[in-house]
Amino acid sequence: MPILPPPPVGSFVSDNAAGVSPEVMEALAAANVGTAMAYGDDDWTRRAQARLREVFDGPVHSYFCWGGTGANVVGLASVLRPWQAVLTAASAHIVVDECGAPARFTGSTIVPIPTDDGRLSPDLLTPWLQWQGSEHHPQPAVVSITQSTEMGTLYSVDEIGALCDAAHAAGMLVHLDGARIANALVATGSDLPTMVRDTGVDLMTLGLTKDGAMFGETVVFVTATRDGAPLDAEARFVRKQAGQLVSKSRFVAAQVLALLEDDLWLANARHANLMAARLARSVEAIPGVRLADEPQVNSVFVHLPSAAIAPLQQWSFFWDWDLTVDLVRWMTSFATTDEDVQRFAAGVSAVLAGHA
Ligand SMILES: Cc1ncc(COP(=O)(O)O)c(C=O)c1O
Repeated sequence: MPILPPPPVGSFVSDNAAGVSPEVMEALAAANVGTAMAYGDDDWTRRAQARLREVFDGPVHSYFCWGGTGANVVGLASVLRPWQAVLTAASAHIVVDECGAPARFTGSTIVPIPTDDGRLSPDLLTPWLQWQGSEHHPQPAVVSITQSTEMGTLYSVDEIGALCDAAHAAGMLVHLDGARIANALVATGSDLPTMVRDTGVDLMTLGLTKDGAMFGETVVFVTATRDGAPLDAEARFVRKQAGQLVSKSRFVAAQVLALLEDDLWLANARHANLMAARLARSVEAIPGVRLADEPQVNSVFVHLPSAAIAPLQQWSFFWDWDLTVDLVRWMTSFATTDEDVQRFAAGVSAVLAGHA
């Protein structure tokens, strides 16, 4: 076994492993004064909702939740009936990583569509439209996409627009899981009005936990009405029943306000993306490392010699992605440092020297 350098302080296991942005900690402390009405009837919540209307540049309706799975549940369950179906990529978090919560709380069928790279396209939806109108099949009613995707890939604004057009033409709504929407916005140079409002996305989860918040994700209803009724008409009840109504809502709202202030959320995401690009540059020439692709956001997917994976994980843990092809995922965050990148690359180099 080669002599290994000390592992990096900041792990590459997930952007969830990072701590909290100092500005968010300060905002939490600042909100910790006096009393406030519970369950969202407070000034922080109202200000954060107003701020979200500004960043979307539209009259969006926002619902703060405890976490990302819960926010996906609240959004989807607010617009679906049990006999309907969600069309989504087979790699989607709502399929593989939420313990079936969206299926359970909506009662709907989640249809996992195989994709090469985690991205849906209008042609992948077409076969499922045959189900519409037949009482023997669950009725496709929502298309759910993730931006950026679980595979570290991105939809362009035009691609989201084309998916929304196809979904709407078939009478379906579009839901966007934006656990990493900030990484996608900075990677594409876009903004929420362009990427979400103008493309036709109807509702989304706006994630900030991976981008410097301590906890709390937001369901944003972008489209105002459907068939004459508010799209969010049932959201309050669904959120409470799903256990996602935060009693001390001001502490989620304070985090949202802190991250949106001076575009801290975008600066954090830009840093995370930059660190992924640097990590790719630092490891790509190491014999035995094969980048699966050029990183587009804050994840680096690499193929490694299979015998090197476990020793590297023991040294500094990260998740396997697909061991049938020796693919692993390294993730960066707003808190990743250059030193973390250099130390990790040095460890990769040392371990692979024995396995390449
Ligand atoms: C694409 C995606 N959606 C949603 C989530 C939110 O999940 P959680 O319930 O852990 O907050 C995650 C977290 O890993 C994610 O990667």
